[in-house]
Formats: sequence, structure tokens, C-alpha cells
Amino acid sequence: MKTPILLTTLIVMSASLSSPVTAGLTESLYGKMPDGREVKIYTLTNSSGMEAKVTEYGAILVSLKVPDKDGKPADVTHGYDTLEGWLGNSSYFGASVGRFGNRIANGKFTLDGKEYTLLTNNDPGGMPCALHGGKEGFCKKLWKGEAVSADGASGVKLSYVSADGEEGYPGELSVEVTYTLTEKNELVWEAKATTKAPTVLNIVHHTYWNLSGDPDKSINDHELTLYAANYLPTNAGMIPTGEKAPVAGTPLDFTKAHVIGERIDADFEALKFGGGYDHAWVLDGTGDGDLVKAARLRDPKSGRVMTLATNQPAVQFYGGNFLDGTTTGKGGVKYQHRTALCLETENWPDAPNNPKAPTAILRPGETYHHKMVHAFSAE
Ligand code: GLA
Repeated sequence: MKTPILLTTLIVMSASLSSPVTAGLTESLYGKMPDGREVKIYTLTNSSGMEAKVTEYGAILVSLKVPDKDGKPADVTHGYDTLEGWLGNSSYFGASVGRFGNRIANGKFTLDGKEYTLLTNNDPGGMPCALHGGKEGFCKKLWKGEAVSADGASGVKLSYVSADGEEGYPGELSVEVTYTLTEKNELVWEAKATTKAPTVLNIVHHTYWNLSGDPDKSINDHELTLYAANYLPTNAGMIPTGEKAPVAGTPLDFTKAHVIGERIDADFEALKFGGGYDHAWVLDGTGDGDLVKAARLRDPKSGRVMTLATNQPAVQFYGGNFLDGTTTGKGGVKYQHRTALCLETENWPDAPNNPKAPTAILRPGETYHHKMVHAFSAE
């Protein structure tokens, strides 16, 4: 068949803008940082119609298209259309957050007898804490991207070196975040890090999900299962007290699937402190390096299902309580209250200050490894 001249021209033009790297992976220029450095965006596809876009800025997942039960793909994430939008990403949409995702009480911790002070950038209940890596955490850095492929799946590896003392954290830390889209409809996010001096870390992936594909629709009608019989009660500053409490008999019991909105207004202290769901659940699995089940999320209307597995000890389920219609995202949509949710697998919040938490310390010679497998289907 002869290709019409106009179509040929279009193909040549688009090829010059976006270059295929391997099957299922293209890279192109997304924009420039305010200081002029170029920022790339990668597009990963698989043969079932899934498409993930990842940018070097913030090691961010820009979008993820997933087919519904009729095979119709839609983007199931909140975010921005352009790099300029992402530069003002105050909600951590799609981001790879570090060094320490979640909260550190009073922005202070002691490591090997020395006290370190971080910027406090959050104060729930009037109690200051360091949140999500500080003023300019990993989600605001320009990473270096590289195409990778493993077992026929396409991926992108993003690297960043965090200097000794950056945002108050000790030790030069070399970090790699890899996104892979598999033929089994899995989006795998993996973080690895090594350090030149002892440090603390908790690198967290912070995508906001709305499986309906309609960013205007509340996620309160999604059904959620969390494979966790215990959660971490907090003080009013959302810092865990150190005790594990059973979820049984509370509105935080998602051991069997529940519609998220069903008990959200219950008279329960933890829900008041969080302004809704914004807590860490302790996963039932051991979290000792093998993947354990963390969550299952289902949107009844589109039929999309996401299951999440991890090697981390906890998952923060954040129900989009701070979204209030003031952020304009993709397609000009103003993101309203609870129109997306996060399932952030991680160590316990404030782990560096909590002797009951799994250690958050990384020493020279050790490798930090955090893996999340998001598996998608439709029913
Ligand atoms: C996390 C926190 C929330 C909130 C969001 C970002 O999920 O637990 O309290 O800070 O990040 O807005």
C-alpha cells in the first residue's frame, strides 16, 4: 500500500520529535528547567494498550493509561500536561519522594549520637514536621534517564546523586528509580540507593489514582482492600505513637473490601486527625525482602482493578483530603476533594525517631531496595 505524502510527512515530523529507543519505548524532549537544562519524557507501552509516561523531572509518573472492562484506555492518574505544571507540583502528584517520604516529627532525628535538623514544611494539628524530603526533595530534582529493558518489558532508569548535607540529611546518596511496564499489565516502580556515610531514608512513590479515568469523580466509591490487620495510631500531628492497633471494629478495617466513603465520616479520632483516611497500615506480610500483598483497589463502574505488592512494612493510604479544587491539572480540570487517592508503600512514618519501627538507617556497603508492583486488570 502506498503511504499518502501528507501521512509520510507527519510520520517523519513526529519521528524527529520523539525517537523510538526500543520496542515499546520512546523518548522525547519535555521542556527545560528554569536554568535551561533539558528534561526528557519517556513513553512506555505494552501490547494490551497500556501506556506509561515518565519524566526525568522528579522521577515522576506523568500519566498511566489503563483499559477498562470494555478495553477503552484512560489515564488513571492526577497530574499536569506540561513540565511547567509539574514545576509547581505542590501535591506530590506522581512523584518519587525522598530522602524521607512521609513525616519526621519536629524535623529532627539522631543518628549515631548526632542530632540532625531538617526544615519543617508541614504542621498538621499545629505540630511541625518535615514532610516528603523538605523544600526541594527528590521530587523537585532533575534526574538522569536511561532506557532499560528486562524480560521483554520496557523501562526507564532514573539516577540522581543527593549531596552530603542536602536538605539537612547526612551522607552522599546515589539513587536509582526504575519504572517498568510489563506484558502482564504491571507497572513496577523500584528504588535502590547506596550511601557514602550513614543516613536515614524512605523513598516513596506518590501517584494519585482514580481508576474511573474521570478526574472529576470522587474516589469514595472505589472499593479498597488493605492486607493489614493493624494500623499506626498517631498524635494530632500525624506522628505514630509507636503502638500498633488492630483495625478490627474500626472504620480503618479494610481487611475485606469496603467502599471508601462508607465509614469516612465515622466518629473516630484517627479519621479526625487525618481529615479522612491518611494513615499508615502495617502490612501482614513480613516485608523482609519478599513481596507481600499491600492493597487491592477497584472502581465498580469501569471495572478497573489495581493490586499492589511491595517489599515494605507499611502502606500509607491517603484519600486526597487536601485536594480542594484550587489545583488545575491535566486538561484544565480543577482537582476536587477526594478525587484521587495514594497508596504509598514505605517504612513507618517518623521511623528514625521510633525505636519500635523497622530501621530507616542505611550504612555504606548496604543497598536500600524498595519495590512496588502495581498490577492492572478489568472485570
Ligand atoms: C501524604 C501525606 C498527606 C499529604 C500528602 C500530600 O500522603 O500523608 O498528609 O501530605 O502526602 O499532600
